[in-house]
Amino acid sequence: MISKKWKLSVVMLMGILILSTAYADGNGKHAGHGGHMDHMMKVQNMLKKELGGSYNASIKKATPKELIQGKEIYQKQCAACHGLQGKGDGPLVSALPSKPADFTDPIHSKFYSDRARIYIIKKGIPGTAMAGMEKTLGNKEIRSVYLYIKSLRKCSGSEEDHN
Ligand code: HEC
Repeated sequence: MISKKWKLSVVMLMGILILSTAYADGNGKHAGHGGHMDHMMKVQNMLKKELGGSYNASIKKATPKELIQGKEIYQKQCAACHGLQGKGDGPLVSALPSKPADFTDPIHSKFYSDRARIYIIKKGIPGTAMAGMEKTLGNKEIRSVYLYIKSLRKCSGSEEDHN
């Protein structure tokens, strides 16, 4: 029977929606810093599981060409939320339940590894506005856009400091 199946999937969908808003809420408005940190620890654990031994593997340095390509992609597909300068203050932010990170913050930016953040760009972070880009961007483009956001990080030292 079609209608039974339909009902079931609608109920499931509602369940997912309720769960995901509750999740986003807990880490958004009222949870304060602790709640946000909690959320980030959970995401980090998930990423460590997914990536296993390669979590901390280093990545090749950016070429100037990659940074140019990355910037182009960033301005089209990321800046609406993450802000042109990467400070997490794009025009869509006021509509989001949890805020995007400030990519220029050197401490925050080190919280997830390079591989982890590339993985996030590919797959997204469940329960947040950060959607995976793997359907629209190829691996090279994802790498370029990641290298570009990494280059936004405020950093006084050498390239080594970025890792
Ligand atoms: C619809 C809004 C939106 C768009 C568009 C978007 N993001 Fe995000 N992004 C977010 C939010 C919100 C978070 C924080 C999620 C959380 O709370 O864990 C995030 C988190 C991230 C993170 C992990 C946080 C960190 O500290 O590094 C990375 C990396 C990232 N985004 C990269 C990108 C890139 C690259 C693009 C474009 C290809 C992009 N995002 C497009 C909303 C967005």
